[in-house]
Amino acid sequence: MSEADTTTDKIITDAMANPSPAKSLGDPGITPLSPTHIQQNDTDQVQSGPSFVVVVAIDFGTTSSGYAYAFTKEPECIHTMRRWEGGDPGVSNQKTPTTILLTPDRKFHSFGYAARDFYHDLDPSESKHWLYLEKFKMKLHTTANLSIDTDIHAANGKRVKALDIFAYALAFFKEQALKELSDQTGSDFDNNDVRWVITVPAIWKMPAKQFMREAAYKSGLVPRENPEQLIIALEPEAASIYCRKLRLHQMVDLGTQTTQNGFSPNDNVGSGMSQVVSPGHAKELVRRNRQSRTFLVENVIGELWSELEEGDRYVVMDCGGGTVDLTVHQIRLPEGHLKELYKASGGPYGSIGVDYEFEKLLCKIFGQDFIDQFKVKRPAAWVDLMIAFESRKRAAAPDRTNPLNINLPFSFIDYYKKFRGHSVEHALRKSNVDFVKWSSQGMLRMSPDAMNTLFKPTIDHIIQHLTELFDKPEVSDIKFLFLVGGFAESSLLQQAVQNMLQGRSRIIIPHDVGLTILKGAVLFGLDPSVIKVRRSPLTYGVGVLNRFVEGKHPPEKLLVKDGTRWCTDVFDTFISADQSVALGEMVKRSYTPAKPSQQVIVIHVYCSEKESVAFISQPGVRKCGTLRLDVSGTESTAARREIQTLMQFGDTEIRAMAVDVSTGRTVKASIDFLSH
Ligand SMILES: Nc1ncnc2c1ncn2[C@@H]1O[C@H](COP(=O)(O)OP(=O)(O)OP(=O)(O)O)[C@@H](O)[C@H]1O
Ligand SMILES: [Mg+2]
Repeated sequence: MSEADTTTDKIITDAMANPSPAKSLGDPGITPLSPTHIQQNDTDQVQSGPSFVVVVAIDFGTTSSGYAYAFTKEPECIHTMRRWEGGDPGVSNQKTPTTILLTPDRKFHSFGYAARDFYHDLDPSESKHWLYLEKFKMKLHTTANLSIDTDIHAANGKRVKALDIFAYALAFFKEQALKELSDQTGSDFDNNDVRWVITVPAIWKMPAKQFMREAAYKSGLVPRENPEQLIIALEPEAASIYCRKLRLHQMVDLGTQTTQNGFSPNDNVGSGMSQVVSPGHAKELVRRNRQSRTFLVENVIGELWSELEEGDRYVVMDCGGGTVDLTVHQIRLPEGHLKELYKASGGPYGSIGVDYEFEKLLCKIFGQDFIDQFKVKRPAAWVDLMIAFESRKRAAAPDRTNPLNINLPFSFIDYYKKFRGHSVEHALRKSNVDFVKWSSQGMLRMSPDAMNTLFKPTIDHIIQHLTELFDKPEVSDIKFLFLVGGFAESSLLQQAVQNMLQGRSRIIIPHDVGLTILKGAVLFGLDPSVIKVRRSPLTYGVGVLNRFVEGKHPPEKLLVKDGTRWCTDVFDTFISADQSVALGEMVKRSYTPAKPSQQVIVIHVYCSEKESVAFISQPGVRKCGTLRLDVSGTESTAARREIQTLMQFGDTEIRAMAVDVSTGRTVKASIDFLSH
């Protein structure tokens, strides 16, 4: 029986999903052979003893990316990547921009500042043939039917395969990191000695996570045959792990500062705490300062942590360029293990929302048709304009009284004149936008109010989300709220969060907010078992047939087959949304091939945001993946083959393993979330 055959008849296939005739007393339906959750010792899951020499974590951000590493022999030293090149005026970045340039024949050319600068210097007639890409990570979050063939658009409007772009970027990081490791160790560093960690937003669905993994295979970062060499880490989780190590001088505690109307006008990351620095602290300050690329993790837990008691709860909010995502953790002492209290939440409320508002403002002043044309015809000038905006955006603050000037590239002024036949100044005067003026030095002069207006929709989304989250019963008594990610530097955001919380929990902002995720991801790679319990973001299950019970099952679900009355479309829940699941905990199901000659069993996996689902046909339930059991070569003489399948939901990715019970042989099992 071919795979196609097995998938064509959903009902029969799904019927086979749970075909055990074993009945439990009083239950007229089909019961799975062993519908149990089993708890395994989680150390079984984690490779015994590190077989790798170094952990390298890649933070693949929407706007900026980077890597950091630690040798397993020296886990207390986390090294952040060496800086390669470039920088932007008025902007200090600890990571490098997530920008990529391909040649006209679609070969990788460069990444980061190098890509941006090269693209910028191309002649406009030439640049339209080159493929320049930025902010493309969001595509994995926003594409409803993400597949291996999903396309993204370059600045010139041409389409490219997203998988190729992610693979090029990862290959670039691999090359850079291995080069740095080789320089450090004085010999060619072997990729087999590296455990790679890639961070992704916690709110990403399984298809996006699998996509990242596929890109890693394609890039040669890790071979497909050795999936354990790559760990997918969740960004706020990584930050949470790092925050445990924080010392008092490595953060700002908004709660302890003098506040005016709930906000201190001087609040800013980097301003430091107004605390007395002891000689011991001073020594540490010398050891680790902003310039140093090596961060020393104390073997002890940070002072902040020593204030935490068994069962204390805190929230980590990663405010990035693309997404804002949150995790709620509870501490378990004495080991400091972490337990997730509420499923990861958040949304596309990152700082690029402010960039889009700026673009909308430009459209309002100069016309959407002009902006669309300008982006395509003068792409390098558009990039320049957004760089100019970035530096002014970072200067926005609640207490600001003087306007912000944004340099308009000459190319913009010139092209506008040609396009409309009148000047930029004229357009500004004519528009109803009165908080943006034209300055005689060729700049857009934005009032502080105008800038704050651009932040408002994004910040409102974040605050609304936080408010809803803090209203959940699981999220009560939160001792700390850690703000991390580049956007956490925004004092407009800090103030809004402070006003919303009204002192309900202390707000902690680590220094180097942009690197917290990277450093935490390295720590996670060194010990992935630190997070002991997670919450499933969705309900997962399969469709099965149950014996039809009059009065219990709806008549439209009746299916009579070979004289037996079945209820179709019954949802067999593997795990429910927000259900807590321990690392190493397994969901066990047994499946039987429909025919002895069957080569593969393909079972559709369904998911829903709802916690309780009765039928796969209910609104909000969608087919999201396929569980594939490759039973070829495992034929046996047993009358009935039982393929025992174990699925794991407590890790950062969902995994399946299977075994043919009668022979004890391993059956190749996989769950694919990208083919829908
Ligand atoms: N002071 C500031 N005010 C407003 N935004 C800021 C400020 N400083 C940095 N940002 C924004 O933070 C973002 C970069 O943060 P970060 O590097 O954490 O994001 P990322 O990792 O690229 O994105 P994501 O994690 O969502 O994929 C940029 O969009 C930048 O504009
Ligand atoms: Mg990020």
